[in-house]
Amino acid sequence: MTTYTSSWIRAYTNIALIKYWGKADEALKLPKNNSISLTLDSFYTDTYVQFDSRFTTDTLTIDGQEQSGAALKKAKIILDLVREVAQVDYNAKITSLNYVPTAAGLASSASGLAALAGAASNALELNLSDAELSRLARRGSGSASRSIFGGFVEWEKGHSDVTSVAKPLDDANWDIGMLFIILDSRQKAVSSSEGMSRTVATSVFYPAWLETIELDLADMRQAIKDQSIQQVGEIAERNALKMHGTNLGANPPFTYWSAESLRAMEHVRQLRQEGYNVYFTMDAGPNVKLISTCQELKEIKERLSKYYDPAQLILAQPGPGLTVLPDHVHAD
Ligand code: ADP
Ligand code: DP6
Ligand code: CO
Repeated sequence: MTTYTSSWIRAYTNIALIKYWGKADEALKLPKNNSISLTLDSFYTDTYVQFDSRFTTDTLTIDGQEQSGAALKKAKIILDLVREVAQVDYNAKITSLNYVPTAAGLASSASGLAALAGAASNALELNLSDAELSRLARRGSGSASRSIFGGFVEWEKGHSDVTSVAKPLDDANWDIGMLFIILDSRQKAVSSSEGMSRTVATSVFYPAWLETIELDLADMRQAIKDQSIQQVGEIAERNALKMHGTNLGANPPFTYWSAESLRAMEHVRQLRQEGYNVYFTMDAGPNVKLISTCQELKEIKERLSKYYDPAQLILAQPGPGLTVLPDHVHAD
C-alpha cells in the first residue's frame, strides 16, 4: 500500500475587473483576451487530496456531496496532469470545502480549481513555481489561473500552454474593496464555459468585444497604478456591461441577469447620484458586486440593509494568494 497525502490548501476567489470571456483553445483553456482581477478575502475553497494505490477510482466531494459529470471531469484534468509529471498512476480522493456558493457566478471555479491544483501538486511533492501552479489551475478553469496570486492579477492570454499564465500586477495595499449583493446562490442554468463558447461561436457583438479589449486593459492598468477608485470602477462597470451585451447577441440569446440584478444596478446609480464613488461588476450569474473604498462600502452596506438581509450583503477586501493551511485548521 502506498499513499500520498497533501496538506489542506486554501485558494481565495477573484473577481475580474476586465473579464475573461471566450476561449481561443477549449482544450488548453487559452483565452481570447487578457483579463485583470482582484483576489478577495471573504470567499475561498479549502481542498485536501490523497492519492492511494488502493483507490479504484477518482472521487471528488464538495461540502460532503460526491460529484460526478462535469465537476469530476474538470478535477480529473488536473489529477491527470500531476500524475503524468510525478509518474504516479494511483487514483485520488479529493475532499473540498467551498466557503463560496458553488456555480452561482461567485467564482467557485476560480477558488475551487486553484485549491485543487495546489493540493494535488502538494500531495505528489512537485514543488511547482507560482507560474507553473497558475498554468495547472488554468487547465481546470481559466479564472483559477488568477487565484494563485493575491491582490490585482493579470492573466496573460499567451499563445500556448507555457505562455498563458497569470502574473501579479499590484499588491492592492490601498483602500479598495467589494461589496457582494447575493441575490441568488443557486446553481446557474448556463455554466461559464457553455456561455462563453456559445457567445464566441454565434454572437454578432463578439467582434466588438475583441476590438475594444486592448484599450480597456491599458486603461485599467493605468487606473490601478493611479489607485483611482473612480477610474477602476468606471472601466470595470463598462467592461462588465459590454461582456453581458455579447450574450444578448448570441444565438440562442441568453442573459445572466435577473430582475433583482437590475434593481441592484439601480441602487448603485442612485448612490452615485448621492455622491458615493461606487461602481458595479457582474459575472456569469445574477449576483452584483460593488466596487469602492472599504470605508464607503461600509456605509453603503448600512444603506442597503433596508432592501437586503444581512446575509445577502458581504464585504470583501483584497485577499492573498494560495495558502498552505496549518494542520489545526481542519484538525477533525
Ligand atoms: P462559478 O461562477 O461558481 O465559477 P462555473 O460555472 O464557472 O461557476 O463553475 C462551477 C463549477 O466549478 C462547478 O460546477 C464545479 O464543476 C467546479 N467547482 C466549484 N467548486 C469546486 C471545488 N471546490 N472543487 C472542484 N471543482 C469545483
Ligand atoms: C464571467 O473561469 O468560470 O467570471 O474557464 O470555462 O472554467 P472556464 O470559465 P470560468 O469563466 C469566468 C468568466 C467570468 C469572467 C472572469 O472571471 O474573468
Ligand atoms: Co467560474
